[in-house]
Amino acid sequence: MLVLGIESSCDETGAALVRDGRYLLSNVVASQVEVHNRYGGVVPEVASRQQLSTIIPVVETALDQTGCSWGDVDAIAATYGPGLAGSLLVGLTVGKTLALARDLPFLGVNHLEAHIYANWLRRQEHAMAAQDTHWEYQEGDPTFPLIALVISGAHSELILVRGHGHYELLGRTRDDAAGEAFDKVARILGLGYPGGPAIQNAAQRAEEEVQQQHKSVTLARNAYRLPRAWLRGTYDFSFSGLKTAMLHLAEGVVEDQHGSHSSAEEKQGSQYMRMGVQAAQKGAVNVAMLAASFQEAVVDVLAVKTRLAAQEYHVKQVVLAGGVAANVNLRARLEQELRPLKIRLSYPSIEFCTDNAAMIAGAAYFHLCRGERHGLDLDVQPGLSLPFER
Ligand code: KG4
Ligand code: ZN
Repeated sequence: MLVLGIESSCDETGAALVRDGRYLLSNVVASQVEVHNRYGGVVPEVASRQQLSTIIPVVETALDQTGCSWGDVDAIAATYGPGLAGSLLVGLTVGKTLALARDLPFLGVNHLEAHIYANWLRRQEHAMAAQDTHWEYQEGDPTFPLIALVISGAHSELILVRGHGHYELLGRTRDDAAGEAFDKVARILGLGYPGGPAIQNAAQRAEEEVQQQHKSVTLARNAYRLPRAWLRGTYDFSFSGLKTAMLHLAEGVVEDQHGSHSSAEEKQGSQYMRMGVQAAQKGAVNVAMLAASFQEAVVDVLAVKTRLAAQEYHVKQVVLAGGVAANVNLRARLEQELRPLKIRLSYPSIEFCTDNAAMIAGAAYFHLCRGERHGLDLDVQPGLSLPFER
């Protein structure tokens, strides 16, 4: 089954063709990072306008790259939530319109579920001979039950997945999402947007620097003592205390420099940018060390809580999902936590961690195989969550 997937939930416009929920034929992503970079974050009105101007060429390119024609496409899928209403509307409308025009089945896809299904994606050359005969399981797929750690710009959720479509929520963030924390702290440190890759690169510089001095990387990772919200007895997360600690530390750097104190009002919102720029001026090494310590604090909590959940629910597999799953330190640390327990860790390749349409087409397949379809009256659901059974 060949599915055309469309993704437009935030600031990326994507279209992809995926066979049997796994095998990638094409994956086109138009990113708006440069547009939003100058604002230090995503501006919803700008995002939806950009979606509108790029969506048609993106869909056309995805089809052109495969050499497939419309006659080869079996179904169309588009994200209908969660995300920014204006952005979602663009992709969903284009998807439904194409389905109507081509007389094809249509399915709306939950963006969070799609992040999880990014773990099923692989290159077309890895296609099995017995295509389409075993939709539920093919060699190389993650195996159920599994724990999914979904960590993106807007979500941090620890989920027990018992089978296709069967989700139990174990824990979620009580305040900021992990990716949001990366983005806000990157602003505090003047490292730009998106914050995740910027912090990871700065942290890497700090780690390389201590290694050059023949010292352990832990020296960079623990250069600053930062709080970790363990919220023991729960699988919930909290990152706002850590963000505040980073703000105070960055402020300390500035106060040391100027001997001045900011007023309470100043310690908010747009102040992040000013603080960040000044902190950066203080010297790249401190900022890099701060970034390394922050990343370590986030990785520590995510990795330990995920390992504990994997142990409690006796799963053989953990999958990472969402933009923050691209983080190399998190991947390495979780590998380290799970290997002695013989629990397999999988994560999508970087291009499938951040927003893309291949994961939308992939997730859609498993619903379409269960006979599910959506009517063309399906509307966007900006606050959509996964259909948790518990
Ligand atoms: O899944 P995604 O592309 O969009 C949402 O659905 O939110 O996730 C974007 C988030 C951003 O907050 C970005 O800073 C973060 O993922 N991110 C990372 C890395 N790459 C992207 N966070 C940590 N380390 C990375 N390497
Ligand atoms: Zn996403």
